[in-house]
Amino acid sequence: MSHPETGPYVIVNGCSISYHLTGNIPVVNGRRVQTFNAPTIHAERPTTENKGYEARGAGKDKGDCMGRVSASAPGKCILFGEHAVVYGQPAVAVAIEQRISVSIETLEGKSESWKIDGMQFDPKRHPHVQALRNRLWQPKQGAPNLSIRISGDIPPASGLGSSAALSVAASAALRVARGRWHNTAEHQESRAWSEGYSSQFEQEDVYTIENRELDANRNGDAGKKVHYVSDESVVDLDECALLAHAVEAVAQGGRASPMDASTCAHGGIVLLSDTLESEEDYLYTRRLKMPEGEREWHLHTIQLPKSTEEVFLVIGNTGVHAPTSQQVAKVATAMKENPQRMKEIETIGIIARRGIQSLKDGDFTAVGRAMTENQIMLQGLGVSCPELENLIRAAAPTSLGAKLTGAGGGGCMVALTTNPKQTSEAIELAGGRTLISRIGNVGLSVDECKELPLWATEPSA
Ligand code: MEV
Repeated sequence: MSHPETGPYVIVNGCSISYHLTGNIPVVNGRRVQTFNAPTIHAERPTTENKGYEARGAGKDKGDCMGRVSASAPGKCILFGEHAVVYGQPAVAVAIEQRISVSIETLEGKSESWKIDGMQFDPKRHPHVQALRNRLWQPKQGAPNLSIRISGDIPPASGLGSSAALSVAASAALRVARGRWHNTAEHQESRAWSEGYSSQFEQEDVYTIENRELDANRNGDAGKKVHYVSDESVVDLDECALLAHAVEAVAQGGRASPMDASTCAHGGIVLLSDTLESEEDYLYTRRLKMPEGEREWHLHTIQLPKSTEEVFLVIGNTGVHAPTSQQVAKVATAMKENPQRMKEIETIGIIARRGIQSLKDGDFTAVGRAMTENQIMLQGLGVSCPELENLIRAAAPTSLGAKLTGAGGGGCMVALTTNPKQTSEAIELAGGRTLISRIGNVGLSVDECKELPLWATEPSA
Protein backbone atom coordinates (compact mmCIF):
# COMPACT_ATOMS: atom_id res chain seq x y z
CA MET A 1 0.00 0.00 0.00
CA SER A 2 1.34 3.38 -0.84
CA HIS A 3 0.76 6.80 0.69
CA PRO A 4 0.23 9.44 -2.02
CA GLU A 5 3.24 11.48 -0.95
CA THR A 6 5.46 9.55 1.34
CA GLY A 7 5.44 5.93 0.27
CA PRO A 8 4.29 2.80 2.06
CA TYR A 9 2.10 2.89 5.12
CA VAL A 10 0.27 0.34 7.21
CA ILE A 11 -3.11 0.32 8.84
CA VAL A 12 -2.78 -0.56 12.51
CA ASN A 13 -5.73 -1.71 14.65
CA GLY A 14 -8.06 -0.85 11.83
CA CYS A 15 -8.04 2.83 12.77
CA SER A 16 -4.55 4.22 12.96
CA ILE A 17 -1.97 4.88 10.32
CA SER A 18 1.68 4.35 11.04
CA TYR A 19 4.07 5.89 8.53
CA HIS A 20 7.62 4.94 7.87
CA LEU A 21 8.59 7.74 5.60
CA THR A 22 10.37 6.94 2.41
CA GLY A 23 9.85 9.07 -0.69
CA ASN A 24 12.69 10.80 -2.41
CA ILE A 25 15.38 10.20 0.18
CA PRO A 26 19.15 10.46 -0.28
CA VAL A 27 21.32 7.61 0.95
CA VAL A 28 24.30 7.92 3.31
CA ASN A 29 26.35 4.83 4.06
CA GLY A 30 23.68 2.62 2.60
CA ARG A 31 20.96 4.10 4.82
CA ARG A 32 18.24 6.50 3.80
CA VAL A 33 18.57 10.04 5.08
CA GLN A 34 15.18 11.48 5.88
CA THR A 35 14.49 14.84 4.33
CA PHE A 36 11.32 16.83 4.49
CA ASN A 37 10.01 19.76 2.54
CA ALA A 38 12.06 22.89 2.28
CA PRO A 39 10.15 25.87 3.66
CA THR A 40 10.26 28.01 0.56
CA ILE A 41 7.44 30.44 1.10
CA HIS A 42 6.68 31.06 -2.53
CA ALA A 43 7.66 27.68 -3.88
CA GLU A 44 5.29 24.84 -4.59
CA ARG A 45 4.18 23.08 -1.46
CA PRO A 46 2.84 19.54 -1.34
CA THR A 47 -0.80 19.20 -2.30
CA THR A 48 -3.01 19.02 0.72
CA GLU A 49 -6.56 19.56 -0.51
CA ASN A 50 -7.22 15.89 -1.11
CA LYS A 51 -6.46 14.97 2.44
CA GLY A 52 -9.71 14.87 4.36
CA TYR A 53 -9.35 16.92 7.50
CA GLU A 54 -11.36 16.00 10.51
CA ALA A 55 -10.69 17.80 13.78
CA ARG A 56 -9.82 15.31 16.48
CA GLY A 57 -8.46 17.70 19.08
CA ALA A 58 -8.61 17.42 22.84
CA GLY A 59 -11.91 16.39 24.28
CA LYS A 60 -13.21 14.56 21.23
CA ASP A 61 -14.14 10.94 21.72
CA LYS A 62 -11.50 8.83 20.02
CA GLY A 63 -12.96 5.43 20.81
CA ASP A 64 -10.22 2.87 21.29
CA CYS A 65 -7.68 4.81 19.23
CA MET A 66 -5.30 7.08 21.12
CA GLY A 67 -3.55 9.76 19.12
CA ARG A 68 0.20 9.36 19.19
CA VAL A 69 3.22 10.79 17.38
CA SER A 70 6.78 9.47 17.65
CA ALA A 71 9.87 11.03 16.12
CA SER A 72 13.57 10.35 16.54
CA ALA A 73 16.81 12.18 15.83
CA PRO A 74 20.49 11.19 15.92
CA GLY A 75 23.19 12.48 18.21
CA LYS A 76 26.14 14.34 16.75
CA CYS A 77 29.90 14.21 16.95
CA ILE A 78 32.03 17.27 16.17
CA LEU A 79 35.06 16.47 14.03
CA PHE A 80 36.49 20.00 13.97
CA GLY A 81 35.82 23.43 15.37
CA GLU A 82 33.90 23.20 18.66
CA HIS A 83 34.07 26.41 20.70
CA ALA A 84 35.65 28.30 17.79
CA VAL A 85 32.33 27.93 15.94
CA VAL A 86 30.63 30.00 18.65
CA TYR A 87 32.88 32.85 17.41
CA GLY A 88 31.94 32.24 13.76
CA GLN A 89 34.84 29.94 12.75
CA PRO A 90 34.13 26.96 10.45
CA ALA A 91 33.24 23.61 12.00
CA VAL A 92 32.04 20.18 10.96
CA ALA A 93 29.78 17.76 12.79
CA VAL A 94 28.45 14.36 11.75
CA ALA A 95 25.27 12.56 12.76
CA ILE A 96 26.03 9.38 14.68
CA GLU A 97 24.14 6.09 14.73
CA GLN A 98 22.87 6.56 18.28
CA ARG A 99 19.45 8.26 18.56
CA ILE A 100 16.84 9.78 20.88
CA SER A 101 13.18 8.99 20.34
CA VAL A 102 10.28 11.12 21.60
CA SER A 103 6.73 9.85 21.70
CA ILE A 104 3.76 12.07 22.62
CA GLU A 105 0.14 11.32 23.45
CA THR A 106 -2.63 13.53 24.79
CA LEU A 107 -3.48 12.90 28.42
CA GLU A 108 -7.03 11.74 28.87
CA GLY A 109 -9.15 13.10 31.70
CA LYS A 110 -8.39 16.10 33.84
CA SER A 111 -4.65 15.87 34.29
CA GLU A 112 -3.27 19.11 35.70
CA SER A 113 0.06 19.00 33.95
CA TRP A 114 2.22 17.19 31.43
CA LYS A 115 3.87 13.88 32.21
CA ILE A 116 7.35 12.82 31.15
CA ASP A 117 8.10 9.11 31.37
CA GLY A 118 5.14 8.74 33.72
CA MET A 119 6.38 11.43 36.15
CA GLN A 120 4.99 14.93 36.61
CA PHE A 121 6.71 17.30 34.17
CA ASP A 122 9.22 19.54 35.92
CA PRO A 123 10.25 22.44 33.64
CA LYS A 124 13.52 22.84 35.57
CA ARG A 125 14.52 19.24 34.83
CA HIS A 126 13.44 19.52 31.19
CA PRO A 127 14.17 23.11 30.14
CA HIS A 128 14.28 22.17 26.44
CA VAL A 129 10.80 20.63 26.56
CA GLN A 130 9.48 23.65 28.45
CA ALA A 131 11.01 26.04 25.90
CA LEU A 132 9.43 24.06 23.04
CA ARG A 133 6.08 24.05 24.79
CA ASN A 134 6.21 27.85 24.93
CA ARG A 135 6.85 27.96 21.19
CA LEU A 136 4.60 25.22 19.82
CA TRP A 137 2.03 23.97 22.31
CA GLN A 138 0.58 26.92 24.21
CA PRO A 139 -1.71 25.87 27.09
CA LYS A 140 -3.30 29.35 27.03
CA GLN A 141 -4.49 28.67 23.49
CA GLY A 142 -6.12 25.44 24.60
CA ALA A 143 -3.37 22.93 23.83
CA PRO A 144 -4.14 19.71 25.71
CA ASN A 145 -1.78 18.25 28.28
CA LEU A 146 0.65 15.68 26.97
CA SER A 147 2.32 12.52 28.09
CA ILE A 148 5.86 12.32 26.69
CA ARG A 149 8.12 9.28 26.55
CA ILE A 150 11.81 9.78 25.87
CA SER A 151 14.12 6.88 25.03
CA GLY A 152 17.37 6.28 23.20
CA ASP A 153 21.02 5.35 23.38
CA ILE A 154 22.79 8.73 23.42
CA PRO A 155 24.40 9.24 26.83
CA PRO A 156 23.09 12.50 28.32
CA ALA A 157 25.31 15.53 29.01
CA SER A 158 28.32 13.97 27.31
CA GLY A 159 28.91 16.16 24.25
CA LEU A 160 27.00 13.94 21.81
CA GLY A 161 24.05 16.24 21.26
CA SER A 162 21.48 14.42 23.39
CA SER A 163 19.61 17.66 24.18
CA ALA A 164 19.70 18.83 20.55
CA ALA A 165 18.44 15.41 19.37
CA LEU A 166 15.68 15.52 21.99
CA SER A 167 14.71 19.06 20.92
CA VAL A 168 14.68 18.21 17.21
CA ALA A 169 12.60 15.04 17.73
CA ALA A 170 10.22 16.79 20.14
CA SER A 171 9.68 19.77 17.85
CA ALA A 172 8.88 17.43 14.94
CA ALA A 173 6.47 15.41 17.10
CA LEU A 174 4.70 18.56 18.32
CA ARG A 175 4.46 19.97 14.80
CA VAL A 176 2.95 16.74 13.44
CA ALA A 177 0.60 16.60 16.44
CA ARG A 178 -0.78 20.09 15.79
CA GLY A 179 -0.60 20.23 11.98
CA ARG A 180 -0.02 23.46 10.09
CA TRP A 181 -2.15 26.17 8.49
CA HIS A 182 -1.29 27.18 4.94
CA ASN A 183 -2.70 30.12 3.05
CA THR A 184 -3.71 30.89 -0.48
CA ALA A 185 -1.88 34.23 -0.62
CA GLU A 186 -2.32 35.51 -4.18
CA HIS A 187 -2.63 32.15 -5.88
CA GLN A 188 -5.29 29.63 -5.03
CA GLU A 189 -2.76 26.84 -5.47
CA SER A 190 -0.14 28.33 -3.15
CA ARG A 191 0.93 26.11 -0.30
CA ALA A 192 2.66 28.96 1.51
CA TRP A 193 2.78 28.55 5.25
CA SER A 194 0.48 30.60 7.34
CA GLU A 195 2.21 29.75 10.60
CA GLY A 196 5.50 28.39 11.75
CA TYR A 197 9.19 29.10 12.16
CA SER A 198 11.60 29.34 9.27
CA SER A 199 14.95 30.84 8.36
CA GLN A 200 12.93 32.80 5.80
CA PHE A 201 10.87 34.64 8.41
CA GLU A 202 11.93 37.22 10.97
CA GLN A 203 13.19 35.03 13.79
CA GLU A 204 14.22 37.22 16.64
CA ASP A 205 11.25 36.34 18.85
CA VAL A 206 11.92 32.60 18.64
CA TYR A 207 15.30 33.24 20.29
CA THR A 208 14.33 35.89 22.76
CA ILE A 209 11.19 34.64 24.48
CA GLU A 210 11.93 32.82 27.70
CA ASN A 211 9.07 31.97 29.98
CA ARG A 212 6.21 33.50 28.10
CA GLU A 213 4.27 31.78 25.36
CA LEU A 214 4.82 32.78 21.78
CA ASP A 215 1.75 33.09 19.57
CA ALA A 216 1.84 29.83 17.71
CA ASN A 217 -0.55 31.15 15.12
CA ARG A 218 1.94 33.77 14.07
CA ASN A 219 1.69 34.56 10.40
CA GLY A 220 4.56 33.42 8.29
CA ASP A 221 2.81 35.06 5.37
CA ALA A 222 0.11 37.70 5.12
CA GLY A 223 -2.60 35.57 3.57
CA LYS A 224 -5.72 33.98 4.97
CA LYS A 225 -5.46 30.63 6.71
CA VAL A 226 -7.41 28.36 4.48
CA HIS A 227 -5.69 24.99 4.31
CA TYR A 228 -5.15 22.90 7.35
CA VAL A 229 -2.62 20.12 6.84
CA SER A 230 -2.55 17.39 9.40
CA ASP A 231 -0.06 14.70 8.54
CA GLU A 232 3.69 14.12 8.72
CA SER A 233 4.31 16.27 5.62
CA VAL A 234 4.06 19.36 7.86
CA VAL A 235 7.46 18.52 9.36
CA ASP A 236 10.19 20.82 8.14
CA LEU A 237 13.87 20.31 8.96
CA ASP A 238 14.67 24.03 8.97
CA GLU A 239 11.87 24.67 11.47
CA CYS A 240 12.90 21.80 13.78
CA ALA A 241 16.58 22.84 13.66
CA LEU A 242 15.67 26.48 14.28
CA LEU A 243 13.50 25.65 17.28
CA ALA A 244 16.18 23.30 18.65
CA HIS A 245 18.85 25.99 18.23
CA ALA A 246 16.65 28.55 19.99
CA VAL A 247 16.05 26.30 22.99
CA GLU A 248 19.74 25.28 23.12
CA ALA A 249 20.69 28.96 23.14
CA VAL A 250 18.41 29.51 26.15
CA ALA A 251 20.00 26.53 27.95
CA GLN A 252 23.55 27.72 27.12
CA GLY A 253 23.18 31.22 28.55
CA GLY A 254 22.64 32.85 25.16
CA ARG A 255 25.81 31.45 23.54
CA ALA A 256 25.18 28.56 21.16
CA SER A 257 26.07 27.82 17.59
CA PRO A 258 23.40 26.07 15.48
CA MET A 259 25.79 23.13 14.87
CA ASP A 260 24.23 20.56 17.20
CA ALA A 261 20.64 21.36 16.30
CA SER A 262 21.19 21.34 12.53
CA THR A 263 23.29 18.15 12.53
CA CYS A 264 20.68 16.29 14.60
CA ALA A 265 17.93 17.51 12.27
CA HIS A 266 19.53 17.03 8.85
CA GLY A 267 21.79 14.07 9.60
CA GLY A 268 24.77 13.33 7.36
CA ILE A 269 27.58 15.88 7.67
CA VAL A 270 26.98 19.54 8.41
CA LEU A 271 29.46 22.34 7.78
CA LEU A 272 29.13 25.73 9.41
CA SER A 273 31.05 28.56 7.89
CA ASP A 274 31.55 32.30 8.08
CA THR A 275 31.13 32.44 4.30
CA LEU A 276 28.86 30.86 1.72
CA GLU A 277 30.68 27.77 0.46
CA SER A 278 30.08 27.53 -3.26
CA GLU A 279 31.08 23.84 -3.45
CA GLU A 280 28.70 22.66 -0.74
CA ASP A 281 24.92 22.28 -0.54
CA TYR A 282 23.63 25.40 1.20
CA LEU A 283 20.96 24.91 3.86
CA TYR A 284 20.30 28.33 5.43
CA THR A 285 21.83 31.13 7.45
CA ARG A 286 21.29 31.59 11.17
CA ARG A 287 21.84 34.73 13.25
CA LEU A 288 21.93 34.97 17.00
CA LYS A 289 22.49 37.94 19.31
CA MET A 290 24.97 36.68 21.90
CA PRO A 291 26.29 38.62 24.91
CA GLU A 292 29.38 39.48 22.79
CA GLY A 293 27.37 40.69 19.78
CA GLU A 294 25.51 39.19 16.83
CA ARG A 295 26.91 36.08 15.15
CA GLU A 296 26.07 34.67 11.76
CA TRP A 297 26.54 31.12 10.49
CA HIS A 298 26.01 29.75 6.99
CA LEU A 299 25.07 26.09 7.13
CA HIS A 300 25.76 23.51 4.45
CA THR A 301 25.78 19.77 4.01
CA ILE A 302 28.84 17.96 2.67
CA GLN A 303 28.75 14.98 0.35
CA LEU A 304 31.47 12.50 1.21
CA PRO A 305 33.49 10.18 -1.00
CA LYS A 306 32.56 6.50 -0.92
CA SER A 307 35.83 5.67 0.84
CA THR A 308 34.31 7.16 4.01
CA GLU A 309 32.80 3.72 4.56
CA GLU A 310 36.29 2.43 5.44
CA VAL A 311 36.65 4.58 8.56
CA PHE A 312 34.82 4.58 11.87
CA LEU A 313 34.39 6.88 14.80
CA VAL A 314 35.09 5.35 18.18
CA ILE A 315 33.64 7.59 20.86
CA GLY A 316 35.01 7.25 24.39
CA ASN A 317 32.93 8.55 27.29
CA THR A 318 34.86 9.71 30.38
CA GLY A 319 31.70 9.60 32.49
CA VAL A 320 32.60 13.08 33.77
CA HIS A 321 29.78 15.62 33.39
CA ALA A 322 30.64 19.21 32.49
CA PRO A 323 27.73 21.44 31.46
CA THR A 324 28.17 22.97 28.00
CA SER A 325 27.05 26.38 29.30
CA GLN A 326 29.95 26.46 31.79
CA GLN A 327 32.53 25.41 29.20
CA VAL A 328 31.29 28.00 26.70
CA ALA A 329 31.29 30.68 29.41
CA LYS A 330 34.87 29.69 30.37
CA VAL A 331 36.10 30.36 26.83
CA ALA A 332 34.13 33.64 26.70
CA THR A 333 35.84 34.79 29.92
CA ALA A 334 39.28 33.85 28.56
CA MET A 335 38.61 35.89 25.39
CA LYS A 336 37.35 38.87 27.40
CA GLU A 337 40.35 38.83 29.71
CA ASN A 338 42.81 38.57 26.86
CA PRO A 339 41.40 39.47 23.41
CA GLN A 340 44.76 38.40 21.88
CA ARG A 341 43.64 34.84 22.48
CA MET A 342 41.16 35.20 19.63
CA LYS A 343 44.19 34.13 17.52
CA GLU A 344 43.80 30.64 19.03
CA ILE A 345 40.16 30.58 17.95
CA GLU A 346 41.22 31.63 14.45
CA THR A 347 43.87 28.89 14.37
CA ILE A 348 41.19 26.31 15.14
CA GLY A 349 39.30 27.73 12.17
CA ILE A 350 42.37 27.25 9.91
CA ILE A 351 42.83 23.65 11.12
CA ALA A 352 39.12 22.97 10.61
CA ARG A 353 39.24 24.26 7.03
CA ARG A 354 42.22 21.99 6.27
CA GLY A 355 40.47 19.02 7.91
CA ILE A 356 37.28 19.64 5.93
CA GLN A 357 39.20 19.64 2.64
CA SER A 358 40.94 16.37 3.61
CA LEU A 359 37.57 14.86 4.51
CA LYS A 360 36.17 15.76 1.10
CA ASP A 361 39.32 14.38 -0.59
CA GLY A 362 38.93 11.11 1.32
CA ASP A 363 42.43 11.59 2.81
CA PHE A 364 41.69 10.17 6.25
CA THR A 365 45.32 10.22 7.42
CA ALA A 366 45.24 14.00 6.99
CA VAL A 367 41.80 14.18 8.63
CA GLY A 368 43.17 12.35 11.68
CA ARG A 369 46.21 14.62 11.81
CA ALA A 370 43.99 17.71 11.74
CA MET A 371 41.85 16.24 14.55
CA THR A 372 44.96 15.78 16.71
CA GLU A 373 46.10 19.34 15.97
CA ASN A 374 42.63 20.59 16.86
CA GLN A 375 42.93 18.77 20.21
CA ILE A 376 46.22 20.55 20.98
CA MET A 377 44.48 23.91 20.45
CA LEU A 378 41.52 22.86 22.62
CA GLN A 379 43.94 21.84 25.38
CA GLY A 380 45.50 25.30 25.13
CA LEU A 381 42.05 26.89 25.45
CA GLY A 382 41.57 25.00 28.73
CA VAL A 383 38.55 22.93 27.72
CA SER A 384 40.20 19.50 27.82
CA CYS A 385 40.76 17.57 31.07
CA PRO A 386 43.00 14.71 32.33
CA GLU A 387 40.24 12.09 31.85
CA LEU A 388 39.81 13.07 28.19
CA GLU A 389 43.56 13.16 27.59
CA ASN A 390 43.92 9.71 29.14
CA LEU A 391 41.41 8.24 26.65
CA ILE A 392 42.91 10.18 23.72
CA ARG A 393 46.38 8.79 24.58
CA ALA A 394 44.98 5.26 24.79
CA ALA A 395 43.35 5.58 21.35
CA ALA A 396 46.39 7.11 19.61
CA PRO A 397 48.36 3.94 18.64
CA THR A 398 45.44 2.35 16.77
CA SER A 399 43.79 5.44 15.31
CA LEU A 400 44.43 8.11 12.69
CA GLY A 401 43.75 10.93 15.14
CA ALA A 402 41.76 11.72 18.25
CA LYS A 403 40.33 14.71 20.08
CA LEU A 404 37.65 15.71 22.54
CA THR A 405 34.25 16.21 20.96
CA GLY A 406 31.65 18.72 22.16
CA ALA A 407 32.19 21.19 24.94
CA GLY A 408 34.92 19.22 26.78
CA GLY A 409 35.82 19.43 30.46
CA GLY A 410 34.60 15.81 30.58
CA GLY A 411 32.11 14.13 28.29
CA CYS A 412 33.48 12.34 25.24
CA MET A 413 36.51 12.03 23.00
CA VAL A 414 36.43 10.70 19.46
CA ALA A 415 39.00 8.68 17.53
CA LEU A 416 38.99 8.23 13.75
CA THR A 417 40.06 4.69 12.99
CA THR A 418 40.09 1.85 10.51
CA ASN A 419 40.34 -0.60 13.46
CA PRO A 420 37.24 0.13 15.51
CA LYS A 421 37.52 -3.04 17.59
CA GLN A 422 41.12 -2.44 18.62
CA THR A 423 40.61 1.26 19.28
CA SER A 424 37.47 0.57 21.30
CA GLU A 425 39.28 -2.06 23.42
CA ALA A 426 42.17 0.33 24.09
CA ILE A 427 39.78 3.07 25.25
CA GLU A 428 37.80 0.64 27.42
CA LEU A 429 41.03 -0.63 29.01
CA ALA A 430 41.85 2.98 29.90
CA GLY A 431 38.49 3.28 31.68
CA GLY A 432 36.24 4.81 29.00
CA ARG A 433 32.88 3.52 27.79
CA THR A 434 32.74 3.33 24.02
CA LEU A 435 30.29 3.72 21.16
CA ILE A 436 31.14 2.97 17.55
CA SER A 437 29.56 4.85 14.67
CA ARG A 438 30.09 5.37 11.00
CA ILE A 439 30.44 8.92 9.68
CA GLY A 440 27.15 10.50 8.65
CA ASN A 441 23.84 8.89 9.55
CA VAL A 442 20.13 9.33 9.12
CA GLY A 443 18.71 12.61 10.46
CA LEU A 444 15.26 13.34 11.86
CA SER A 445 12.61 10.76 11.20
CA VAL A 446 8.91 10.63 12.02
CA ASP A 447 8.41 7.04 13.06
CA GLU A 448 4.75 6.90 13.93
CA CYS A 449 1.67 9.09 13.73
CA LYS A 450 -1.89 8.11 14.32
CA GLU A 451 -5.19 9.84 14.98
CA LEU A 452 -4.00 13.26 13.92
CA PRO A 453 -4.16 16.03 14.94
CA LEU A 454 -3.64 15.74 18.69
CA TRP A 455 -4.53 19.43 18.95
CA ALA A 456 -6.67 21.00 16.24
CA THR A 457 -5.54 24.61 16.21
CA GLU A 458 -7.85 27.36 15.05
CA PRO A 459 -6.99 29.76 12.26
CA SER A 460 -6.64 33.29 13.58
CA ALA A 461 -9.04 35.91 12.24
C1 MEV B 1 28.83 21.90 21.88
O1 MEV B 1 28.40 20.67 21.35
C2 MEV B 1 29.68 22.63 20.91
C3 MEV B 1 30.16 24.01 21.35
O2 MEV B 1 30.93 24.52 20.24
C4 MEV B 1 29.04 24.93 21.69
C5 MEV B 1 28.21 25.35 20.48
O3 MEV B 1 28.62 25.17 19.35
O4 MEV B 1 27.12 25.89 20.74
C6 MEV B 1 31.11 23.92 22.53
